[in-house]
Amino acid sequence: MTRTFPFRQATIDLGAIAENVRHLRSLTGVQVIGVVKANGYGHGAAAVATAALAGGASRIGTATLEESFALRRAGITAPLVAWLHEPGRRFDDAVEAEIEIGVSSFAQLNAASEAGSQASVHLKVDTGLSRNGIPTEQLEQVLAEAARLERIGRIRIVGIFSHLSGASPDDDRAQLARYQEILAQAGSFGISPEIRHLAATAGAISLPEARLDAVRVGLGIYGLSPFADRTSADLGLRPAMKLSAAVANVRRVAAGTGVSYDYAYRCDRDTTLALVPLGYADGVPRQASGLGPVLINGRPHTVAGRIAMDQFVVDVGDEPVEVGDEVVLFGDPTLGHPSATDWADAAGTINYEIVTRIGDRVPRRTVS
Ligand SMILES: Cc1ncc(COP(=O)(O)O)c(C=O)c1O
Repeated sequence: MTRTFPFRQATIDLGAIAENVRHLRSLTGVQVIGVVKANGYGHGAAAVATAALAGGASRIGTATLEESFALRRAGITAPLVAWLHEPGRRFDDAVEAEIEIGVSSFAQLNAASEAGSQASVHLKVDTGLSRNGIPTEQLEQVLAEAARLERIGRIRIVGIFSHLSGASPDDDRAQLARYQEILAQAGSFGISPEIRHLAATAGAISLPEARLDAVRVGLGIYGLSPFADRTSADLGLRPAMKLSAAVANVRRVAAGTGVSYDYAYRCDRDTTLALVPLGYADGVPRQASGLGPVLINGRPHTVAGRIAMDQFVVDVGDEPVEVGDEVVLFGDPTLGHPSATDWADAAGTINYEIVTRIGDRVPRRTVS
């Protein structure tokens, strides 16, 4: 009897996530803050957070407080930190839920100090990325006020952190040097944070001097490589997401048949076309039309023509492909699957975007 595979599925290997955290912890020798913003880079935030904690993460990071609240609602009791806030936001609810607050401005510091009880904060300082983070011109004022607020018990300064650009090793070292200056300046105000954290995945792996007390790792816990010249396997990591579907239709067509919108692909011989029920609404990038790699019944193929909203077509030649056969878009290359990075290359983007944009219409199935 032939087996019919799931129509669309993202299989999330939570064991891989726990293993990746374990590996990064032993590689770096410092605490790992598992970053699960954007629904755990598309993998499912609560499941990833649980697996990351099981693998030894000491803390979980999210961009927004709402993402951290969702983790609390899912029963995660570990320390959480969130660092991107809407203007004018108050933090009473965050303090009540024991969520640590990343503070990027004087206004946020004041708001944290006005929460019902003592707020735990991480001062986020700009060392060169020019995104959020306390800007240099506010730094002295914020450090002085933060020290005062800590002395009177309004806040507890858990961390001081910043984020690297990854522009070049020299640029990252310059940011590290600036970060050390800021730490010294904070020290002169009597601030001595429990954890200093700067590096994300790339810095954690390639810039040992940036590991400090903790690394905030996103991409690496999902088993993906941030480097163009090093694969997941090179880094000792295992990709946690496999995106697959079942062939939804098969048809035999004549040479010269045009395929999908604009007939961007025309069959150069009599051939078999397999329909794959995933499209750009599911996060399969339209930019990878004609280029994206897939594996059908263990054999490599390429998307034929335009990727549409819900589906795309693969020319499988004379291979005996049947409705219900498995199509793997990406997964673990050591198992012969294309990688998320292959899709990123095909679409002219980064692997972060490939996994993060997998849509809600794709059921996540977790395995360990
Ligand atoms: C402040 C901050 N820290 C850590 C991370 C994790 O980065 P990566 O996925 O490269 O490890 C991010 C993600 O962009 C971030 O914004």
